[in-house]
Amino acid sequence: MKLSIIVPTYNEKDNIPVLVKELDAALHDIDFELIIVDDDSPDRTWEVAENLASTHPFVRVIRRRNERDLSTAVLTGFERSTGEVLAVMDADLQHPPEKVSAMFKRIRNGADVVVGSRYVEGGEIEEWSVIRKLYSKGATLLAHIFVPKSRVTKDPLSGFFMIKKTVVDDVELTPTGYKILLEILAKGKINKAEEEPIIFRKRERGKSSLGVGVFVKYIRHLLHLSWETGEIRRMAQFAAVGVSGVLVNLGILWALTDYAGIYYLLSAVASIEASIVSNFVLNDVWTFRDRKESGVTQWMKRLGKFNLISLPAFPMQLVVMGILKEFFGMYYLLAALMGILVVFIWNFVANSLWTWREMNLKT
Ligand code: GDD
Ligand code: MN
Repeated sequence: MKLSIIVPTYNEKDNIPVLVKELDAALHDIDFELIIVDDDSPDRTWEVAENLASTHPFVRVIRRRNERDLSTAVLTGFERSTGEVLAVMDADLQHPPEKVSAMFKRIRNGADVVVGSRYVEGGEIEEWSVIRKLYSKGATLLAHIFVPKSRVTKDPLSGFFMIKKTVVDDVELTPTGYKILLEILAKGKINKAEEEPIIFRKRERGKSSLGVGVFVKYIRHLLHLSWETGEIRRMAQFAAVGVSGVLVNLGILWALTDYAGIYYLLSAVASIEASIVSNFVLNDVWTFRDRKESGVTQWMKRLGKFNLISLPAFPMQLVVMGILKEFFGMYYLLAALMGILVVFIWNFVANSLWTWREMNLKT
């Protein structure tokens, strides 16, 4: 199998010679090509790369004059590649070249995707501040929530990965953001995904060209993917079920109190539980119908989990409401609405990650 390593570059003239040297040393027993896709860097990275190509036959250079975008640069590299296996890595040596052969070995042993992961045992980030790490973790959690297929890896936002070309054959990739791996995990044909721990090294030369705009782009990309893969529809279904639960709750409360003459607080206990059960049943046959294991025992387990997740919802709503009203002076009905929103998010996320977790994923 031949390996095509795609490296997008923008102002990396000092890094490219080192990268070429390190890859050359690390991959002597692998048939590979290195495709450098440069977006007409002002520091003339393309020129440095072309010079390297004349002395290193495995180097190929694509100079794009009219585009400046990390994701489309990667796709251009995919299109021009000749290998059956594709890798993507950064030029700045933050991704350790010596990991490429370990990743390639995993592909040869049957993985469709191998992610160079900072968040598994043995993985690490060398220089980031606590804030930047938190930001990255938060962004990763959002990916796991909005794009469930990204749960095959702890690090779906990594820029270092390898895939079999068949994963993206005939798959339309629309890189509205710069997280190309996320796009591939959401849409690619993947049976087996694996992770290779990497240490995300310090950047020694040049500076990062991904600015503040990336966060907005990322959220847009996430919502877009979530829409395309039906996860937003699922959230809407979950919300609709929640509304039906409120009606069930009030209806039974009324019937038991006014009609059967039961003390209203006792009726409330019964009506709350009834609405939890009706919500569960609807979500099980509708919202998450594609994500459940059959059998009565499994059904009971899911019901138990759903109930457990509902428990903290009640105090949570009160706490959020109380804080917003007492400390921020918010109008109490608005504060209640915010409380309901927080509870909705809690319920959806917890149930999606636990009660009806995606099971068709192999790691
Ligand atoms: N062709 C091209 N065009 N390449 C670009 C462009 C562009 O517009 N912008 C950046 N690059 C190249 C850089 O030259 C580098 O090789 C690589 O893309 C990553 O850019 P950095 O600027 O070094 O990004 P980073 O270190 O902040 O982010 C890295 O880590 C993230 C994980 O938190 C990247 O790997 C991200 O993809 C990754 O998500
Ligand atoms: Mn970098």
